[in-house]
Amino acid sequence: MILPIVAYGDPVLKKEGIEIEKDYEGLQKLIDDMFETMYNASGVGLAAPQIGKSIRLFIVDASPFAEEEDEDNPDPKAKGLEGFKKVFINPIIEEESGEKWAFQEGCLSIPTIREDVFRKEKILITYFDENFNFHEETYEGYAARVIQHEYDHVDGILFTDHLSPLKKRMLNKKLNNISKGEVDINYRMKFPVKKRTK
Ligand code: NI
Repeated sequence: MILPIVAYGDPVLKKEGIEIEKDYEGLQKLIDDMFETMYNASGVGLAAPQIGKSIRLFIVDASPFAEEEDEDNPDPKAKGLEGFKKVFINPIIEEESGEKWAFQEGCLSIPTIREDVFRKEKILITYFDENFNFHEETYEGYAARVIQHEYDHVDGILFTDHLSPLKKRMLNKKLNNISKGEVDINYRMKFPVKKRTK
């Protein structure tokens, strides 16, 4: 089932999610619905707060980044993205290292806006998968980037929170319009100001 994606301005996006237990009701269905919702919106990541659930769960499928690859001129940041599809439950970024690099991020909750965000290149993360098996893994490049962005969501942080106050002020009108549903999208969303789905 495709769920409406919560738009910028909804308080659920600013809330810190809570950890969940293995017996969380409807977990498998929720994960399936989130993948369906993400693919329908052509996203590479989706966090539970974006569908209105304040829990520490996000999904990623960054394989589109691998498909964009030019074989003759491989981008080292796209390494290992082939079939990179995962569920992260109760994740903790234990360590971030390396140089900060800029990448133009977007967000399904903030359609039409893309801005450079600086983040460190490498992460060490611990999490549980959909079967509640524990993992400790390191990621870099685009994989790390997608995880860092989604991880922020379960902490109630949006990529716009990383922008300078000046940059954010320049985006203010656009952001307000998104909250009101005055934005062109081709997937289901729920707008906080308009109080209806589209
Ligand atoms: Ni996002």
